[in-house]
Amino acid sequence: MDSQKIAVFRKENFNAAHRLHSSYYSESENQVLFGKCNNPNYHGHNYTLIVKVVGCIDIKTGYVIDMKVLGNLIKENITEKFDHKNLNLDTSEFKELNPTAENIAMVIYTILREKLETKFELKITLYETERNYVEYPA
Ligand code: NI
Repeated sequence: MDSQKIAVFRKENFNAAHRLHSSYYSESENQVLFGKCNNPNYHGHNYTLIVKVVGCIDIKTGYVIDMKVLGNLIKENITEKFDHKNLNLDTSEFKELNPTAENIAMVIYTILREKLETKFELKITLYETERNYVEYPA
């Protein structure tokens, strides 16, 4: 039984502002490509983050991972870093990197992967809107 893997999920929310803009394109091309998300004065999204951790059930605790520990890990390393921030201006990660949902999910994955024991598999799901969301790794 303890050799079987099982997934646990922790859901968190954060609100952040961004502007999508690519240095590969002209101002007008950026406007066409990103539409309202290219608005020079930024705009916000209510992001929903789902962190999936896969592992084996610990025979002593009955847990894959203590959800309090996972919750605190996300809070300390992700939520407190990004919540109520302007991603372009306030965070080092997106000074150069375009803060699309894809790139935000990859940044979150990289941060949490470093903090999480290697025995766990990790997957990030990030909702930018109710209808648009990304998963990393795919
Ligand atoms: Ni946007």
